[in-house]
Amino acid sequence: MSRQSPKILVDSKAFDYQKLTCNHKPNLDCTDKYGKDSQCLQKFFDKRALKNQDAHLGMTYIITYKKKPIGYVTLAVANINKREIFSKARPSTRDGALFPAMIILDFCIDKKSRGKTYGEYVLMWCNGLARTISRKVGCRYIVLYTKDPDAVRFYTKHSYQIAEKNNKGEFKLMYLDLFSALKK
Ligand SMILES: CC(C)(COP(=O)(O)OP(=O)(O)OC[C@H]1O[C@@H](n2cnc3c(N)ncnc32)[C@H](O)[C@@H]1OP(=O)(O)O)[C@@H](O)C(=O)NCCC(=O)NCCS
Repeated sequence: MSRQSPKILVDSKAFDYQKLTCNHKPNLDCTDKYGKDSQCLQKFFDKRALKNQDAHLGMTYIITYKKKPIGYVTLAVANINKREIFSKARPSTRDGALFPAMIILDFCIDKKSRGKTYGEYVLMWCNGLARTISRKVGCRYIVLYTKDPDAVRFYTKHSYQIAEKNNKGEFKLMYLDLFSALKK
């Protein structure tokens, strides 16, 4: 897929992330390229995001670029089972089966704004947030589930890996190990 605008034109300072509220809920088109809500991103944003947030089950941020809403991302804390991490890269310093992580529960750039590198900037913001959290509360990984092959390609390009074992049917578990970034 060709880019609609070169990377250099995106101004990283023009992004803003505002918590979803009942008074601040823009219209976003979260359907896939076939016009389907195959990952239930639209349904989640329209019907459940606010309720989940009120129940402290996931914090949803409206992403704006130059004050225009371009998407949303929902984050929460989670874990990853050590069996899901490639054996050679597994930490050997902890006995438990679960390692701490932040989860990208849902992430969508409005259909009209995809392919312009906005997603890349937002993902870097998520990675940075996880690193900030991990300095106060242990958080070694970022995890997410997706079944969209384009999204798998997008995350792979940004160093996310498909987990060693996947038990969620067609949804693939992907993860990023923050270790080397945290050591810098
Ligand atoms: C995946 C997604 C968040 C990426 O955001 P984005 O702003 O389009 O991403 P970027 O412009 O930084 O990168 C585009 C890359 O994502 C991929 N991509 C995935 N879906 C795409 C779409 N519908 N349109 C354009 N690119 C898409 C392309 O492969 C492209 O790769 P390339 O750089 O090799 O051409 C966004 O495309 C999206 O919202 N997709 C639908 C919802 C989804 O699958 N969310 C992820 C699972 S929670």
